[in-house]
Amino acid sequence: MAQMTERIQTLFAKVPSVVLCTATADGTPNAVPVGAKKIIDAETILISDQFLNKTLANMQSNPRVAVTFWEGHEGYQLKGTVTIETSGPRFEQTARWIDDLSAKLGFPLKSKGAVIMKIEAIYAVAPGPGAGKKLA
Ligand SMILES: Cc1cc2nc3c(=O)[nH]c(=O)nc-3n(C[C@H](O)[C@H](O)[C@H](O)COP(=O)(O)O)c2cc1C
Repeated sequence: MAQMTERIQTLFAKVPSVVLCTATADGTPNAVPVGAKKIIDAETILISDQFLNKTLANMQSNPRVAVTFWEGHEGYQLKGTVTIETSGPRFEQTARWIDDLSAKLGFPLKSKGAVIMKIEAIYAVAPGPGAGKKLA
């Protein structure tokens, strides 16, 4: 496992959305924006699935994913493996969070699942000498 620093966690929490990249079992890539994201701990993040289609099918057949996010010229790439929870306490909590968000935004949203990503590697994506450097 790889641990996000406080700084990486702060940026992850702050950006409005991140890019979630998946691939089919035979390697066709797919990248989508997701905004319903949370930090569980330094090596685990959660994404709520409301609308994922190809992404969901990809994660079911190939659980290896990458998540990228940035602000200005600072950015990070997380690589890891997901599990998808559609029942149990963590899903119930996610469903309540998305119900509350839906009410707050006045926009229909319903969580279909909690995507739990265990982070296995972290890279910098900022342009410059440290570009692509493995951080953890
Ligand atoms: C800014 C933004 C944030 C989004 N956040 C989420 C999200 O948190 N969860 C989700 O399921 N879909 C979210 N979506 C919608 C998915 O990205 C969208 O449904 C996408 O088409 C799914 O594509 P796929 O078929 O490749 O999985 C968001 C879209 C945008 C533009």
